[in-house]
Amino acid sequence: MKVAIFGATGAIGKTILWELMDRGHEVIAIVRDPSKVEMKHERLRVEQGDLLNPDQVADFTAGQEAVVSAYGPKFGSEEELLEVTRSLIEGVRRGKAARLVVVGGAGSLLTDSNVMLMDTPGFPEEVKPLAMAHADAYGILAESDINWTYMSPAATITTGQRTGQFRIGMNRVVTDDLGESTISIGDFAAALVDELDDPQFIQSRFTVAY
Ligand SMILES: NC(=O)c1ccc[n+]([C@@H]2O[C@H](COP(=O)([O-])OP(=O)(O)OC[C@H]3O[C@@H](n4cnc5c(N)ncnc54)[C@H](OP(=O)(O)O)[C@@H]3O)[C@@H](O)[C@H]2O)c1
Repeated sequence: MKVAIFGATGAIGKTILWELMDRGHEVIAIVRDPSKVEMKHERLRVEQGDLLNPDQVADFTAGQEAVVSAYGPKFGSEEELLEVTRSLIEGVRRGKAARLVVVGGAGSLLTDSNVMLMDTPGFPEEVKPLAMAHADAYGILAESDINWTYMSPAATITTGQRTGQFRIGMNRVVTDDLGESTISIGDFAAALVDELDDPQFIQSRFTVAY
């Protein structure tokens, strides 16, 4: 499958890139600084581009079977997430890519008491602006007419092993027997590429955890 990915120099995006290459996909990584991409492969093309520029999003994603964004804003610039989301939607619409899969946040997932995770006691105050920006970005995406998919990590995403064993949920936090919601970056990437290979969540949100 032809896949364009943004954020491939980030912690999550880099792991998604490995998973895409492992599964034989043909990938364009659009990054601000191509020298940061260490991987070289005949199925990988690296292009310089900025997500804040919808013309570049449209040009680089034109005709792709999937566009993945693992973009993350800098601490203190969380509002940029909204501009990036609009730029992605406009670019994907104009470039006629088949679908857009966005790596989002867990903060707007619902808990058992029907309260969003970010509104529960103990949710870290310093992460709230990011969680709120992710929730607003999800709203923008959900109102769009493109084939979007919003993927929320578990409450905690770790550097642990890729196991290939995890559970999928939709709008609710997935927790284990101890009430913990965690996923490794490797398993998060595996679940995201599973969704590309076998679409289940067109125009909806899903989450993954152990
Ligand atoms: N539990 C949770 O809810 C949870 C946990 C972890 C992560 N997340 C979310 O998952 C996403 C990815 O996280 P991460 O930890 O992998 O982030 P990260 O390591 O900070 O990576 C962010 C990526 O975005 C890219 N980027 C930033 N501005 C850009 C622009 N204008 N144009 C193109 N690319 C741009 C960066 O590129 P450069 O290398 O050029 O800076 C980098 O590749 C974030 O949105 C984060 O909030 C959620």
